[in-house]
Amino acid sequence: MSFPSTRLRRLRRSPALRGLVRETSLGPADLIQPLFVTAGTDLREPVESMPGVNRFSIAALLEEAGEIEAAGIPAVLLFGIPSEKDEAGSGAYDDEGVVQMAVRALKEAHPDLVVITDVCLCEYTDHGQCGFVRDGQVDNDVTVELLARTAISHAEAGADIVAPSDMMDGRIGSIRYQLDEEGHPDTVILSYAAKYASAFYGPFREAAESTPKFGDRLGYQLDPANGDEAVREAMLDLEEGADALMVKPASHYLDIVRRVKEETGAPVAAYQVSGEYSAIKAASANGWIDEKAAVLESLVSMRRAGADFLVSYFAKEAAVWLGEGQE
Ligand code: PBG
Repeated sequence: MSFPSTRLRRLRRSPALRGLVRETSLGPADLIQPLFVTAGTDLREPVESMPGVNRFSIAALLEEAGEIEAAGIPAVLLFGIPSEKDEAGSGAYDDEGVVQMAVRALKEAHPDLVVITDVCLCEYTDHGQCGFVRDGQVDNDVTVELLARTAISHAEAGADIVAPSDMMDGRIGSIRYQLDEEGHPDTVILSYAAKYASAFYGPFREAAESTPKFGDRLGYQLDPANGDEAVREAMLDLEEGADALMVKPASHYLDIVRRVKEETGAPVAAYQVSGEYSAIKAASANGWIDEKAAVLESLVSMRRAGADFLVSYFAKEAAVWLGEGQE
């Protein structure tokens, strides 16, 4: 039966009716706030390429985390910006490193807030590549060892979840094995399983000072043209012991979010990356789009695609808007 007996507009006539038939929910509990933590005292340094985003030293980080938790967000994802970088990225697995110290302080000040740490070397290497470089190439197996050391030092500091974002082969298995060996069987692994070689990471690399000094990341991150390969990455990571999977970036990869969710059945996160954030910020600053509407639409579309939870630089702002009620 079709028009005029079927009129789909009938259920769109009021906020209450629209609410009754809404298929996808979005709330603060679905969101994760990424945070940049830096050495130094009482710093709050704006990131130029990401208006509204700051790099925090630890005291300021604790204050920010309190606001995030009060907005109903269950978890934060930490990125460290060390004061010194070297060839082997040793700041990443230093027990007194910036992330390790931040994790300890956060778990003490806000014990119920879930702390996730990004596990990668690119913020810590002087060349900006995500691993140990030999003959101009990132050496997979040496890098995996350094990543496992990093994950263990994060777990020892009290991280609830470690999130490897390097895209080396075999790192999940190695991290799981070594975490268990070192007495951390309950530390969760959120794998950046499908991380694409994306132009949308540009603003992050300015924030983390991690732009590669030579070459690019095409030798380890996924080719944006490929979908089957993302599913294979996801399957392998699960076999190696990942607890949850991440697809990154989000907006231009919603088909991948859907496929990974359907083909694995595992918990899936979508990461709305820096370039997605800054594009919305720039357009709204110019008055070309409505920021609040655009942000909430972008986030709900990720949930509709099948993501269980979302990493977004808009998390705190969005949680406040969502707390005020939609429509
Ligand atoms: C580190 C890492 C990157 C991002 C998250 N973890 C940068 C990269 O691969 O260059 C990007 C996040 C963003 O753009 O918001 N490997």
